Amino acid sequence: DYDAFGISDELGFLLEEPLTHLPDYYRLWLDLANNLTHLIESRKLRDLVHKMPVLSPNLLSSHQELRLAHLALGFISMGYVWQDGKQSPAQILPKALALPYWLVSNRLGLPAILTYADSVLCNWKLRDPTGEMEIGNLDLIFSFPGGESCRGFFIVSLLVEMSASSGITGALEVMHAMKTSDLSGIQRGLLKVTQSLKKMRETFKLMHNHVDPTSFHGTLRIFVSGWRDNPMLPRGLLYEGVSNEPILLSGGSAAQSSALQCFDALLCIQHEDETGAFLTRMREYMPPAHSQLIETLSVCPSLQDFILSHSSSDLCQAYNSCVSALVDLRNYHLNTVAKYVILPGSQVRAMGCPLRGVGTSLNTTGTGGTSFMVFLKSTRNATQKALILER
Ligand code: HEM
Ligand code: ALA
Repeated sequence: DYDAFGISDELGFLLEEPLTHLPDYYRLWLDLANNLTHLIESRKLRDLVHKMPVLSPNLLSSHQELRLAHLALGFISMGYVWQDGKQSPAQILPKALALPYWLVSNRLGLPAILTYADSVLCNWKLRDPTGEMEIGNLDLIFSFPGGESCRGFFIVSLLVEMSASSGITGALEVMHAMKTSDLSGIQRGLLKVTQSLKKMRETFKLMHNHVDPTSFHGTLRIFVSGWRDNPMLPRGLLYEGVSNEPILLSGGSAAQSSALQCFDALLCIQHEDETGAFLTRMREYMPPAHSQLIETLSVCPSLQDFILSHSSSDLCQAYNSCVSALVDLRNYHLNTVAKYVILPGSQVRAMGCPLRGVGTSLNTTGTGGTSFMVFLKSTRNATQKALILER
């Protein structure tokens, strides 16, 4: 299972041992990506991209190399588009970026935009290679402006994702135990998922010590924004040398994380209408092996039906604890969003900067493009609805 779904026991969906170097032919890409923060802040990035030759991606061979190339081209592209702020995004991605990015993306089955699979799953390295994977020993490979808040945001997300790994194992165990109607196996698997969800919530708290709301909202956020459902780029972005029409692609968010969608699939949580459609569309922004696991879990016989037909109160409780832990995680997430997006947004308005108030669609729209309060309450409520009321 683990190989087929591109997951590991300890790291879950994180890429194991991400590369930080590519063949020398690609040094221009890595030079830009390694100096991105400085090049954006000094407004030099666009000029340097304009001088870049069109490199062929054919010298990239392994999965790890392709992932690093996708990550580097993603960071450079976001920097290129948003270098001059949200008032003047680039409308055209030059061929030297667009074409190789497109080809690398096709080989990976990922879209040609920075995804969660890039910025979180494969954007990490250990400071001390013999040390642990903990917040003090983890660093980003590439960064946007925003300093410690940028590192904090992506690294805490990575640690939350890592806390999900035992839950993924648990979900697979439940799936297998269902096949033989092994009630205690199902219960053990569910307990694992519950513990993992609680650990995710605990880990999430690290955000408060490592991410400053003003830097996050005012500096970092724009660089994860995309060109779909975004009034700043309503028609999308033209990928020069790829297509004659602009292309619409959503910005990054943890809605592209496979972990929560796996738990939803296992627990038979039904997201309806626009919410469901958005979450399903986000699967196109995941590595195909990962979205395959969501698919596999969602076509399994329904765990909910199984529990309803087996009147075991222990099993029912194990299921409900799991659902409750997921409701708690989504509630915690909602509060965090209020602190990091809504509050700083209203402070900017209260300071009476009318111009900065214009076009600040990012105050009600997430970087992924949703009207996030409606969307996030809907995913939380759908989770709550899955609780089985004991008769
Ligand atoms: C979705 C904000 C951290 C998991 C979203 C959305 C926003 C948001 C605005 C709506 C999608 C969009 O349009 O962008 C934030 C903020 C965070 C944060 C401000 C930290 C400062 C995290 C972390 C996780 C996470 C660490 C890891 C579990 C999710 C999930 C969704 C989502 C799973 C999809 C909705 C759902 O399944 O309930 N987030 N997020 N977020 N976020 Fe976060
Ligand atoms: N999706 C997160 C936001 O909208 C990053 O701020």
